[in-house]
Amino acid sequence: MIKISPSVLTADFLSLADDIKRLESAGVDMLHLDVMDGIFVPNISFGVPVIKSIRKHSNIPLDVHLMIDRPHRYIKEFAAVSDWLGFHYEAGSDNAELLKEIRELGCKSCITIKPCTQPEEIYDLLELCDMVLVMSVEPGFGGQKFMPDALEKLSKLRDEINRRNLTVEIEVDGGINAETAPMAINAGATVLVAGNYIFSADDMSERVREIKSL
Ligand code: DX5
Ligand code: ZN
Repeated sequence: MIKISPSVLTADFLSLADDIKRLESAGVDMLHLDVMDGIFVPNISFGVPVIKSIRKHSNIPLDVHLMIDRPHRYIKEFAAVSDWLGFHYEAGSDNAELLKEIRELGCKSCITIKPCTQPEEIYDLLELCDMVLVMSVEPGFGGQKFMPDALEKLSKLRDEINRRNLTVEIEVDGGINAETAPMAINAGATVLVAGNYIFSADDMSERVREIKSL
């Protein structure tokens, strides 16, 4: 069963509590929270205090996507408010150590690759991951177009994970809609992030059901 993790990046933050309730009743599996520091990516979003408030309003597992430079510096603070916690392979931390630390702190661990990174580069980290995240846009902004190069990366990761009999979710993030979601699923993704496609809709629940039924 495909999991859906709506990204709140393009939401209206003042109506977030209501939107989250609606998403909860629509049966979303996780809530994707994009943390940006203006250094690792050219945009600034939100940090721990906002995630803490979301936690108070919802029981949906929180899927935190750190787009910050040297993420090890803040990992304890984010682990305290996350269920799934992911950071970028390219962000300048010791990746293996950080994945281990995330698990020790009680979260599911996730490593994320940008469009410039090949999946083979993370093969030796797969045992330490509960999820891998393949970016299908350049990280930093919602509402961008899906990059089809991501499909081959998803397939390679799917093959490697199956070949080694590992239990690792494969998440895809960026430009997911009714047209790109089936392609990502066919290539091996098990968790779909969708921001704009859900939050720009008049009926968010309908969009969630549409994607979940694929
Ligand atoms: C981009 C973020 C995404 C973004 C996805 O850097 O990581 O999670 O919010 O938004 P859409 O689905 O609009 O591409
Ligand atoms: Zn994201």
